[in-house]
Amino acid sequence: MSAGVTLSGGRVCLRLWRDEDRTAFAAMNADARVMEFFRSRLSRTESDAMVDHIQRHFAKHSFGLWAIEVPGVAPFIGFTGLSVPAFSTHFTPCVEVGWRLAFEHWGHGYATEAARLALGYAFGTLALPEVVSFTSVGNHRSRAVMERLGMRRNSADDFDYPSFPEGHPLRRHVLYRLGSGARFDAG
Ligand SMILES: CC(C)(COP(=O)(O)OP(=O)(O)OC[C@H]1O[C@@H](n2cnc3c(N)ncnc32)[C@H](O)[C@@H]1OP(=O)(O)O)[C@@H](O)C(=O)NCCC(=O)NCCS
Repeated sequence: MSAGVTLSGGRVCLRLWRDEDRTAFAAMNADARVMEFFRSRLSRTESDAMVDHIQRHFAKHSFGLWAIEVPGVAPFIGFTGLSVPAFSTHFTPCVEVGWRLAFEHWGHGYATEAARLALGYAFGTLALPEVVSFTSVGNHRSRAVMERLGMRRNSADDFDYPSFPEGHPLRRHVLYRLGSGARFDAG
């Protein structure tokens, strides 16, 4: 299977990363509003290392966190896509759908639209039985994306995200699941 797949539909195009995305990505990762529910903002070096990691993930799995382009609006607004979490807990191994957009592109429906394309790929081409998503309990914008996608949370699945130290206010996470049999609007 090719690692070079591009997905497009509606207003968004999910494509592989270009070197010129790195500057805009670093600016997002340095923005306290975007990084509110992460351990810390990222330096340019950390942001570039994340792009390198995303590219290695595509090479290994043939899918990953795609760069999002909105033709006519911006060549790069952030990412949405599929990844295999590196930590172990009660629901791993699994494939996660996730998103991060530059603040100026929130509130337009782009994350949900892009995630629908990624889920179509997950359940269609990859024929996965289930995709999960997770975030800190208080990340209501991310949870709203999960709910718009038709993902469902069972509080019995809540868990402590291992990369946060014990007692950290963001450590408790909710898990949302979507099975291949569930109906979701592929847009
Ligand atoms: C999580 C995140 C991607 C959500 O972004 P978002 O813009 O709220 O989500 P969407 O792109 O789905 O947009 C939905 C909003 O666009 C609005 N909207 C405007 N035009 C729209 C259109 N044409 N179609 C659909 N929705 C539209 C919706 O009404 C909704 O508004 P609301 O939030 O006021 O209800 C964003 O907040 C983010 O990047 N956060 C930081 C990173 C992060 O926390 N990631 C998750 C970590 S697990």
